[in-house]
Amino acid sequence: MKVNIIDSKKSILNKFISDIRNVETQKDSMRFRRNIERIGEVLAYKISETLNYETKEITTPLGKKEMSLHTNDVVVCSILRAGLPLHNGLLNYFDDAGSAYISAYRKHINDTEFEIKVEYFASPSLEGKTLILADPMLATGQSLVSVFEALKTHGSPKEIHLACVLGSTEGIEFIKNQFPESTVLWIATVDEELNDKGYIVPGLGDAGDLAFGKKL
Ligand code: URA
Repeated sequence: MKVNIIDSKKSILNKFISDIRNVETQKDSMRFRRNIERIGEVLAYKISETLNYETKEITTPLGKKEMSLHTNDVVVCSILRAGLPLHNGLLNYFDDAGSAYISAYRKHINDTEFEIKVEYFASPSLEGKTLILADPMLATGQSLVSVFEALKTHGSPKEIHLACVLGSTEGIEFIKNQFPESTVLWIATVDEELNDKGYIVPGLGDAGDLAFGKKL
């Protein structure tokens, strides 16, 4: 797996990441969602640089111009519910992409142990597609791996991109051997620590709750 950590180069992205981490600015859930969406847009742009392109002639009011346009058949699959703003950001740039949604949640066995439950899954065929699997928080990596197993029932993608906002070093190491070798991980930023509850430290907290409010 190829790992691209986007904030290893300084850019405007750092502001979006600071805002979603900051305990004050993250109180504004609309701003939190919008920043996750903006990070999705940055990831989409980065992914687009690796797609296949063909030349098409475009007619302008004043003449003709040859343009390179991508030919990939993209499907964005997001993990509910925290993945929704990231999904929107990716769709903002991939105009014609198909959408797939899958639910994955942590079912706690006790205070520190949990298993991942995958239930709802709605997806077009993934056969031959460019699959972008969007999960904002790559903490333990268990949800991404469980979700990937479920996706296999819908065909074999031509290529797989994992789009994430914040990850842990441990989570990245865990998923590395669970996806095909050609898979590319695009992640905005990475923290070193994962606590015994599976939360990224310093991280940002619970992305789903911050975007959509606390659940029971
Ligand atoms: N999911 C989150 O929302 N936050 C974490 O730190 C880990 C998983």
